[in-house]
Amino acid sequence: MPKEDPAGPEFWERRYRERVTPWDAGAVPAEVRELVAALAPRQRVLIPGCGSAYEARVFVEAGHDVVAIDFSEAALAAARVVLGERQAALRRADFFADELGAPFDLVYERAFLCALPRRRWAEYAERIAGVLRAGGRLAGYFFWNESERGPPFGLEPGELERLLEGRFARVADAPAQASIPVFAGKERWQIWVKAPGTKAA
Ligand SMILES: C[S@@+](CC[C@H](N)C(=O)[O-])C[C@H]1O[C@@H](n2cnc3c(N)ncnc32)[C@H](O)[C@@H]1O
Repeated sequence: MPKEDPAGPEFWERRYRERVTPWDAGAVPAEVRELVAALAPRQRVLIPGCGSAYEARVFVEAGHDVVAIDFSEAALAAARVVLGERQAALRRADFFADELGAPFDLVYERAFLCALPRRRWAEYAERIAGVLRAGGRLAGYFFWNESERGPPFGLEPGELERLLEGRFARVADAPAQASIPVFAGKERWQIWVKAPGTKAA
């Protein structure tokens, strides 16, 4: 694998170490606060590719059982600063290769799918379905863009449906209320429910 492959941790390590992190909103988006306010108590929440993990904090503070993972040590160092005493939620792990403690009630997605090379997207969909319990939800931000180049790698129209349908049903879809420049006008907030009868890993 070339060193500059975003499928590997070195790519992300370097960007966090050099503080070139244009995807990092540095704040908790409005939709996440609304989602957390409406959640049943003590949900098991997975945040894959958590980066600096500012959203993990609101889930932890609301009493949920959070596993926020990243395979970049430099990303986790940034997250430790953000999370302070709530950093027990953090784990160094590879989303595809490591045991994550499934099943989860909720997977929170932000700038993770679009960080992955497209060749890993089918595996992403399979893994998300694998770690969620039946009836569990995938909630977060998804990015559409016509450019082949990335990261961020943008979805084509209809592509997310092709990846998720069959295992998930979409129950929410709206333009993101506020986006940072790199995602502006191309990002939507969506919630997908895992169909009953689809097995957890
Ligand atoms: C674009 S950043 C987004 C970080 C964070 N979600 C945010 O919104 O600020 C993508 C993150 O995914 C992590 N990542 C990429 N592939 C991963 C994998 N296979 N397992 C765990 N983390 C991964 C990277 O290290 C990086 O921190």
